Parts: sequence; C-alpha cells; structure tokens
Amino acid sequence: MSVTEALAFDMYGTLVDPLRIWKQLERFLPREAQRIAELWRQKQLEYTFRLTAMERYEDFEQVTRKALDYALAAVGCDLDRQQKDSLMAQYNDLERFADVEPGLQRLKEAGYRMVVFSNGSPAMLTSIMKAAGLYTYCDGFVSVDEVRVYKPSPQVYRHVANRLGRPIETVRLISSNPFDVIGAEAAGMQASWVNRSGGVFDTLAPPPHSVVRSLIELADGLAQGPGGQ
Ligand code: LAC
Repeated sequence: MSVTEALAFDMYGTLVDPLRIWKQLERFLPREAQRIAELWRQKQLEYTFRLTAMERYEDFEQVTRKALDYALAAVGCDLDRQQKDSLMAQYNDLERFADVEPGLQRLKEAGYRMVVFSNGSPAMLTSIMKAAGLYTYCDGFVSVDEVRVYKPSPQVYRHVANRLGRPIETVRLISSNPFDVIGAEAAGMQASWVNRSGGVFDTLAPPPHSVVRSLIELADGLAQGPGGQ
C-alpha cells in the first residue's frame, strides 16, 4: 500500500459503535436493552438491502426509525414518541471506538486523504462527525444519499471514487462490516477489514488481504507498505 491511496471510512460499526445504544435503551427498557440494540441494527441493515433490491430509497434516518419500531415490537415493547426521539438523537452521538482517534491521528500524520463514506443521511453524518470529533481527521463525508442507493450497490463505491476524483482502485474502504468490504472489492476498490472482536468473515467471498484489529494496526500496516498487513 502507499500514500497514493485515499481512505474512505465506513461510519457505523467502524468508527462509532451502534450497539452501544443499549446503554440509552437501558434507561427505558433495562431487561431488553441489549436484545433490542442488536435487532435494531440487524433490521436497519436488512431494510437497506431490501430497499436497494426493490430499487426504492428512503433515507437512513427513516430506515433507522422503522428498524427501531420493529425491534421494539419484536420483543413485545413500545416507547412513546419522546423516548424514540431521544434514542434517535443519541444515535447521532454514538460512542467512538477507543482506537479511532490514535489511529486516525497516525494516518493523518502519514499524509492520507481521508473521508467518511456511509449509508448515514447527510444530517446524521454532520451531527455524528461533530460529536465524535471526526472533522479533525477527515475531509468531510460522502453519503450514499447523494446517489439514493445503499451499500453494497457498486454505484455507491463508484460514487465515492468519483467524488474523490480518483480511479476506484486507488481508494481503500476501511470497514468492520464484511458486506461492505465484499461490496467494495466487487466494485474494484481496495478494502481493509477492521475485525476488532475476532469475528468470522462472511463466506460469500474470501477475506481481504488487509485484516486488522484496530485503526492503529491499520496505520502501522500502511506504513510498512504492501505485505505489511
Ligand atoms: C455505514 C453502515 C454500513 O456507515 O455501517 O455505511
């Protein structure tokens, strides 16, 4: 790898942790909080995949609200409008993973051009980037909302390369989501999988050459050049 690559970071699950929303859910539903947080995230992604398959689009905020309604119903609970609004507000202030700041700092010092590249709506991404201090390291974000199609449609990976004004093979996706990594590689982009929890990769395609445990490890691997991962 070389500094001639630009880096495009996935947001949810890679820079901030959507599952940690269970901490806020716990205030309203202490027993079901973790289960709801998991179902919420799973359903949110499933809805994006299904919308894309149907060639329909609803923005990520709507999808996230509808997925919350599903997750609550699935465990036999409900919350009032105000409680749901407070959870949605919290979704724009999700906890950053501990390695993100030191990792991005090293990458910035190494001279990489970095952007966030996400399913998130522009309003959500603006808020979360401010809350998580990501504007310090990244040149803003590219939202799939600009093309109104979700990951892993190849259109979105081509779009981020276009927005960066680069050939797609010189852009590297950094993501913890295997579906995103596989989608990026299928579209001709480079990709690194951030596997913090030591999980298994999807069996739909082989894992990428670059698999790291943290953004610090990513920065060290990039500094070593090809084969350093
Ligand atoms: C994103 C989702 C895939 O940030 O996590 O695009």
